[in-house]
Amino acid sequence: MSPIRPIESDWLRMRRAADGRAREAAMELVQVLVEHLGPAPALALVDLGSGTGANPAWLAPAIHRTYAQRGAAAPAQHWLLLDHDPDLLAAHDVGERPEVSSGQAVVAAVDDLAQVLGQASRPTVVTCSALLDLLTVPQIEGLVQATTTAAADGALLSLTVTGEVGLSPGHPDDDLILSIFNAHQQRSADAADVAAFDSGLDFGLDAGLAGPAGWQTAAEAFAGRGWEVRQRTTAWLLDEAHTPLLRRWLSDRVEAVLELLDSRDPRVAVVAAWWEVRSAQIDRGELRAEVGHVDGLALPSS
Ligand SMILES: C[S@@+](CC[C@H](N)C(=O)[O-])C[C@H]1O[C@@H](n2cnc3c(N)ncnc32)[C@H](O)[C@@H]1O
Repeated sequence: MSPIRPIESDWLRMRRAADGRAREAAMELVQVLVEHLGPAPALALVDLGSGTGANPAWLAPAIHRTYAQRGAAAPAQHWLLLDHDPDLLAAHDVGERPEVSSGQAVVAAVDDLAQVLGQASRPTVVTCSALLDLLTVPQIEGLVQATTTAAADGALLSLTVTGEVGLSPGHPDDDLILSIFNAHQQRSADAADVAAFDSGLDFGLDAGLAGPAGWQTAAEAFAGRGWEVRQRTTAWLLDEAHTPLLRRWLSDRVEAVLELLDSRDPRVAVVAAWWEVRSAQIDRGELRAEVGHVDGLALPSS
């Protein structure tokens, strides 16, 4: 199984610290999840699109800490990491976490979740981070259906991009770049379909990735199945203290924008001029970015 568009492991490494800081704003969701799970000798958790394991690396200690703060014994945590990219999974570091009792990595797609939950020996908490925006609407609906049908022990789906980006200082072409980028995020998962987008940006969500609609799609599907849904904002706040991440994040966006434009499109020159200005601002430590993410928790109604 090989992904059509593999995610680079150095990108996952680079974003970990900013992700961890952003998720502190959603600790309340962890507390609600722990309250729902209650005292237990052991927990089973599955992490979809686990990559190199950043989500369990953050969430396992957060769960452990939350039990301790409640004066309760922290359960053993048994994590199952799933990803369709064997190279990323091979580099996971979850076994190094003292809060993780076992961490098994299995090459599998999100679409395999129903089968995985069907084989689980106990109710399982479904988790993911930085994944939903990369899935199609039917994949997200399948994830929700698998989770609710298996009567899983809740779902904590973190760090889905919302499409909201604030750059300071502003630039007159920010909105143009953002709209082309968001269109790129909603392209079809099938690389062959990218060419179809070159003719314009007018296409339906159903045809491609959920992009910024990822969490909302999941939330509506969970609510439609009677689950309770909560969410918290988990934005990245990037400034001169995050220069390498800021540069990489913005240059990847420029690359994506250019990928969507025909080389003769007059907007190519606009994008190049915009990047020159932004790149110089990053060099001088003058650029700040707020990058919208959302964490969502869905629990079966009690
Ligand atoms: C942006 S990365 C996030 C990785 C990790 N969760 C983190 O927070 O660092 C998205 C991950 O989802 C995986 N992925 C994307 N689509 C998938 C699918 N349909 N099935 C399984 N894994 C998928 C990618 O291989 C990648 O590891």
